[in-house]
Amino acid sequence: MENNEELNKLTGQVNRSNISSIASVVTRIIAVINDPESTAKQLVDIILTDPPLAANVLKFVNSAHFAPRRRIADIQQAVIFIGFNALKELALNQKVCEIFQKAVNIEGYSRQALWRHSVAVAQFAKMIYRREFAERGENVYAVGLLHDLGIIIEDQFRNPSLVESLQLVNKENLPLWKAEQRTLGYDHSQIGAHVSLDWDLPEEIVHGIAYHHRPDKAPASSQRLAACLFIANHCCQAAEIGYCDSPLENEDLYAQCIDRLSVDSDAIDLIMTDVQTLIKAMIEEGLL
Ligand SMILES: [Fe+2]
Ligand SMILES: [Fe+2]
Repeated sequence: MENNEELNKLTGQVNRSNISSIASVVTRIIAVINDPESTAKQLVDIILTDPPLAANVLKFVNSAHFAPRRRIADIQQAVIFIGFNALKELALNQKVCEIFQKAVNIEGYSRQALWRHSVAVAQFAKMIYRREFAERGENVYAVGLLHDLGIIIEDQFRNPSLVESLQLVNKENLPLWKAEQRTLGYDHSQIGAHVSLDWDLPEEIVHGIAYHHRPDKAPASSQRLAACLFIANHCCQAAEIGYCDSPLENEDLYAQCIDRLSVDSDAIDLIMTDVQTLIKAMIEEGLL
């Protein structure tokens, strides 16, 4: 109860801040992703109402990553060139990225490193869905980008507690969420879940954020997604891509998740190699 009041207060602060205008665009893009009847025009319209987003999307489409033969001059051309599905992912990526922009560096944590971690987790989780379940994995990609949203919120609105938690992580070798439980009484997965529920994001996304460190506690309908996130988080941390919020995460739980999804270690190794290659290329091209 006490935590709920605190989380409500924090959510109110977030909704009165610069994050809320970003959230309204993110929520609209996720609604397009979740509506099977949605059209490319709806997405183009959302992007066009946000000129900085449109400019960032065009910068990405014209980069070596997509390598167009001629410059793509507008969003309508972009949707034809990269396709509706790729544009959904790219627009979401470029918009969520805005939440992470601000140079903050404390105790081994920075927003840029957390963003790299989030993109790697999103790509990893999406590849598991595509290769192992033959599904598009658009929601799992969105959860990957947003799973550590609570850390950014803490960084912006509860900074002394985050600093204290990060110090505890270094001193006692704890996963960040356990340190937060001690200093704040709740952790970044609870913050992210509370805020994303308030933004009316789909239940699957809220659950994915809520249980990314505790997939064993997820409700049955979200267990596969939470397990997938846990594996992605674990592997990206083991490969030291970006910020690492739980270096000593439970190996038994990892084995349980692998079992739950019935993925073999060769598939995981292949995905890891592909994610590393992709992230390296994005860094080299100045896109991450
Ligand atoms: Fe986390
Ligand atoms: Fe994470």
